[in-house]
Amino acid sequence: MCGIVGYIGEQNAYPIIINGLKKLEYRGYDSAGVAINNLKNINVYKKKGKVSDLEAFTKGKDISGTIGMGHTRWATHGVPNDVNAHPHTSMNGKFVIIHNGIIENFAVLKKKLVARNYTFKSETDTEVLADLIEYIYLFGKVNAETAVRLALNKVIGAYGLVVMCTDEPDKLICARNSSPLVIGYGDNEYFIASDATPFVQYTKKAVYLDNQNLAVITRDSVTVKTIKNDVINPDIQQIDFDSDEAEKGGYRDYMLKEIYEQPKSILETIRGRVYENENAIKLGGLLDVMPKLLNARRIIIIGCGTSWHAGLVGEYLIEEYARIPVEVEYASEFRYRNPILTQDDVVIAISQSGETADTLAAIQLAKAAKACVIGICNVVGSSISRETDAGVYTHAGPEIGVASTKAFSTQVTVLAMIALLLGKCKYMIGQQQYHQLLTELLSIPEKIEHTLQSAAKVEEVAKLYKDSRNFLYLGRGCYYPVALEGALKLKEISYIHAEGYPAAEMKHGPIALIDDKMPVVVIATQDKGYEKIVNNIQEIKARKGKIIAIVSEGDTVISKMADHVLEVPKFDTAIGAITTIVPLQLLSYYIAIMRGCNVDQPRNLAKSVTVE
Ligand code: F6R
Repeated sequence: MCGIVGYIGEQNAYPIIINGLKKLEYRGYDSAGVAINNLKNINVYKKKGKVSDLEAFTKGKDISGTIGMGHTRWATHGVPNDVNAHPHTSMNGKFVIIHNGIIENFAVLKKKLVARNYTFKSETDTEVLADLIEYIYLFGKVNAETAVRLALNKVIGAYGLVVMCTDEPDKLICARNSSPLVIGYGDNEYFIASDATPFVQYTKKAVYLDNQNLAVITRDSVTVKTIKNDVINPDIQQIDFDSDEAEKGGYRDYMLKEIYEQPKSILETIRGRVYENENAIKLGGLLDVMPKLLNARRIIIIGCGTSWHAGLVGEYLIEEYARIPVEVEYASEFRYRNPILTQDDVVIAISQSGETADTLAAIQLAKAAKACVIGICNVVGSSISRETDAGVYTHAGPEIGVASTKAFSTQVTVLAMIALLLGKCKYMIGQQQYHQLLTELLSIPEKIEHTLQSAAKVEEVAKLYKDSRNFLYLGRGCYYPVALEGALKLKEISYIHAEGYPAAEMKHGPIALIDDKMPVVVIATQDKGYEKIVNNIQEIKARKGKIIAIVSEGDTVISKMADHVLEVPKFDTAIGAITTIVPLQLLSYYIAIMRGCNVDQPRNLAKSVTVE
């Protein structure tokens, strides 16, 4: 939540900052602001709304300067308006600051500052921090870096922040605790950002700041320290994606691009990990923890939103193929309910961003209980990927659309690989079945590609139901979480109420909702639960519900009962469940577009939820 960009170098800072903010808008788009330093003045411009509103606002204004920073906000403290927008300037104008995170003890700090005659313009916790730094600077007679450091020692909470000081104009000071911050190392120029996308076109060398670390950046140096003042030798890493991966590449929106990228993303997920000829799966990131995994008393999968849905599919796959008991928990519930954990448990934390606050806190809890914690993340170098004992990256490439699509299918792919790997090592799967499962896994990209070719048919169905007020999504077994995910996609981008339900549970309540206006999306592919789902479809039909069925190619039974059928290629095992999400993603996408919604930036949402 909230995106941060900073630049110091020889180029004009403003265009770099603005373009960087556009790439980070997925993190929040309630307001945007910049501070550009031309070594005489720090000009601050901020505006409610999107980065484009800020751009319009700065037209004709002085935006000169080669040092700058910018912020795109997802509101926590204070409504989205011009005053609460970042950057915030301290009362006496000495410090300007942008911040992502929450200062939890801001009320206590504010009270102390009020007692020292500080007054506040905004409702934000960030302004309190700006004033605290200034107070320490002025009354402690210390330099800017020390003032920031001492202030951060008084702060409880999460921050990724950048600070400018009018008395020391030729530097940026940045710091991080629980909110991500990356420093890009160019030639005589440095970049700061919440993730690497704003600067990957300029440099691929980066340092991911650790918690409670601070960096002082001038045009020709970066000094990294802890907030306790211990100097750190930072580990400069190579970024492994290209700038065009974070562009729309000719698609109308990021979401559509990311839906269509799924075959390629899944290929990346399995690349170098699935060896059909050797009949083997190799997950290098799990080598060290394999004994723990194989002897696990149980596996607990934690995540939020779409990642939690992927976890539910994982539960099905791991129990089916590896016969290890699995529980799936919302990270936000798990962290607060005093769960019983031992060192014989393995926790798998799933997160696209690798920054979700609840998932991070749940990991810390699991580690404190000495459970082994494995991460499944997309963003390389993210907090979760560094906090976990071992892990597997999804390698889906940057996901910019706020609604997760390729993250889900690649997370499920990783879970399928883990399930099969464990199943084989535990002798739960015979050689021949294993080979069949691997072949099926390897065929997923092609089958998704094939499914995407029916997009026009999905669009026709979307046209018929775009004005519906409610949707029901039903599935059984591993398709139940797919139904949940389909419903989540629809509600978050089209604002239509949608519920996902296990198909057989329908008659215990939701069936009361069904009438001739209710579209019911049923995942009804030909596998284990097929006959049962056919019965469920009859039950909906009897109540005149409108049935949109996701069926296996060539199904002639359901096509006679359903109002619409959307086909996916046939699968023999649960490994194919991933494919059925594709028509559901497209359905929600087209409905949202037809309703005039911004699919990449749905209202009230942000991609990376770094607050609880
Ligand atoms: C839904 C969506 C969210 C995220 C959730 C967890 O489309 O994107 O529900 O799945 O906020 O985010 P990560 O996976 O980054 O931990």
